[in-house]
Amino acid sequence: MEDNKSFLWTQRILIAILGLTGTLSISLMILFKTNTSDAQTKSVTVKDTAANVRTQQRLEEFKTEMLTSWQQEAQAKGFATDVPTKFQGIVISEAKLPSNKKVIALTFDDGPWPSSTAKVLDILKKNNIKGTFFVVGQNVKNYPDLSKRVVAEGHIIANHTWHHWYHHMNAQAAAYEVANTGDIIYQTTGVKTSLFRPPGGIMSNGVAAYAKSNKYAIIMWSADSMDYSRPAVPRLMNNIFREAKPGGIVLMHDGGGDRSHTVKALPEVISKFRKQGYEFVTVPELLEMQDQYPQVVAQNKSKSQKPQKP
Ligand code: NI
Repeated sequence: MEDNKSFLWTQRILIAILGLTGTLSISLMILFKTNTSDAQTKSVTVKDTAANVRTQQRLEEFKTEMLTSWQQEAQAKGFATDVPTKFQGIVISEAKLPSNKKVIALTFDDGPWPSSTAKVLDILKKNNIKGTFFVVGQNVKNYPDLSKRVVAEGHIIANHTWHHWYHHMNAQAAAYEVANTGDIIYQTTGVKTSLFRPPGGIMSNGVAAYAKSNKYAIIMWSADSMDYSRPAVPRLMNNIFREAKPGGIVLMHDGGGDRSHTVKALPEVISKFRKQGYEFVTVPELLEMQDQYPQVVAQNKSKSQKPQKP
């Protein structure tokens, strides 16, 4: 029974794809024919051949697009997650990597934010760097286009609660904070995230416990820029680089207030890391890399977190 059913479904999906492909090619042909009908009669044959080639190309592109969106859907339904299973419910403040493995993850919290997120995204794009953005649910709701841009430009989007509250929350409130944020991220960007960072790095007010029990990986940091205190660029740089190390996670903010200091410092932060031989990775990439070096994890046996502040 089950086999028959799934076979029927497969058949229906195939028929649907064939139908779509057929409709597309016919409409493309009509489109090209209409274009060529304006041209001189003698050149029509040549143009037709060219149109066929273009139609073929469009079909190939269409097939690729179909496949990509299918994969995205599979990911959204939980067939694949963005962190290895072994990190679900675990607290991580850095990846334990060999000292010659010079990679670092830049993370940006509390956005999206109208005055600064776009500027941060521009800088990252210019430098061809992918970052990890821990977003606040109500900001995703208020600034959907910025949220979509974060994902469209290849960055990782992750959960930082709905209200960014620090106070203690009962189970119901904690569930609201985490689950609603996961939902709005999914509804807005199509991404189902399994990364969570508690506001202020606070592990004891209920939200981290809820996230842990719902298989989120709790992502802290190993280098705090302290950009929320709006230091001048040299101070901000010093805050980061005195704690910079391979496998590190850098905490910065693209939202939640005046982030002009962060925006000003970011190009210099990037350039200094590059001079030191670092490459930039996202948090999921970092976790995957740690997965490749289990012996280093065993040696280091968790030096635990470094919480506090936004
Ligand atoms: Ni925060």
